[in-house]
Amino acid sequence: MRVSTILAAAGLLSSANAAIKGFNYGANFNNDQAKTLNDFEYEFNAAKKLPGTDGWTSARLYTMIQHGTTNTVIEAIEAAINTKTTLLLGMWASAGQGIINNEITALKAAIAKYGTAFTDLVVGISVGSEDLYRITPTGIENKSGAGAQPQDLINYVKQTRAAIKGTSLQGKPIGHVDTWTVYVNASNNAFISSLDFIGMDAYPYFQTTMANNVGSGSQLFFDAYHQTVAAAQGKPVWVTETGWPVSGQTLNQGVPSANNARIYWEDVTCQLVNDNVNLYYYILQDVQYGNPVPSFGIKPAGDLMQVSPLFDLSCPAKVS
Ligand SMILES: *[C@@H]1O[C@H](CO)[C@@H](O)[C@H](O)[C@H]1NC(C)=O
Ligand SMILES: *[C@@H]1O[C@H](CO)[C@@H](O)[C@H](O)[C@H]1NC(C)=O
Repeated sequence: MRVSTILAAAGLLSSANAAIKGFNYGANFNNDQAKTLNDFEYEFNAAKKLPGTDGWTSARLYTMIQHGTTNTVIEAIEAAINTKTTLLLGMWASAGQGIINNEITALKAAIAKYGTAFTDLVVGISVGSEDLYRITPTGIENKSGAGAQPQDLINYVKQTRAAIKGTSLQGKPIGHVDTWTVYVNASNNAFISSLDFIGMDAYPYFQTTMANNVGSGSQLFFDAYHQTVAAAQGKPVWVTETGWPVSGQTLNQGVPSANNARIYWEDVTCQLVNDNVNLYYYILQDVQYGNPVPSFGIKPAGDLMQVSPLFDLSCPAKVS
């Protein structure tokens, strides 16, 4: 029997190939209120019950720290254990070494407290989120806040590797999340070398210097993806944020609407699922206690378990 036949017979082939599908989850609501255990469980369960979908069972976090505390473990970890949600962990890396020390304290505390019930769920660890975008001319012009230098991020990755060495997290891939424009910038090549995977954020809606109507969304997205893959030094590229807004301002040719979000979902999200690319969509719901402009949430305000998605989330039959 060929190896592939044995694997298929054991049912391993399909699970080995199945990509990760999930959403991004912030640590707090729009009014700065921290999400608690119940809030995270509610969101993770809602993601599993989306009509027309299955398998959206992974959560990308931005921090290990419970919002509003110094270094207490984020309650999303316990919620993930309770709901069997896999985790792309995040460490906030744009606020200096002191905050990284707190992130690492929380990471180690989570390992000590929950053991393999936690670590078995971890699919990766991202050191940072858009830190390099924020130090670019575009990031500065857009007042996107403090970022971090590539050399600082290289150090934080080393520190994270050292922190998980000898624990049940050892061997989990350590990567970084940033906008695709960062990876095609050769000044960041040494940092890319220090990573196990590349997390790419891409939003054609914001690509205002190009023809960014939703009909061009797929071409802009996959151009960005292929350029990132080419710059990734052979490392896997995960799509860590993408989406199309359901409401907000028209930017150049980019028009937010639920209909356009559906078109983008079908053209980009369904294609990525079809291609088995690890994917974290932005976002399940972003309107709790506030009105973000633009809004990317696929669920409107209200009871997440009851309100229908703003657009159809089914994908066309798989083409192989
Ligand atoms: C390229 O990357 C470096 C280091 O991250 C950054 O300082 C610089 O602003 C980037 N250049 C552009 C054009 O984004
Ligand atoms: C940032 O600024 C650039 C240039 O002014 C603009 O094209 C782009 O849409 C802005 N991006 C965001 C995320 O606001």
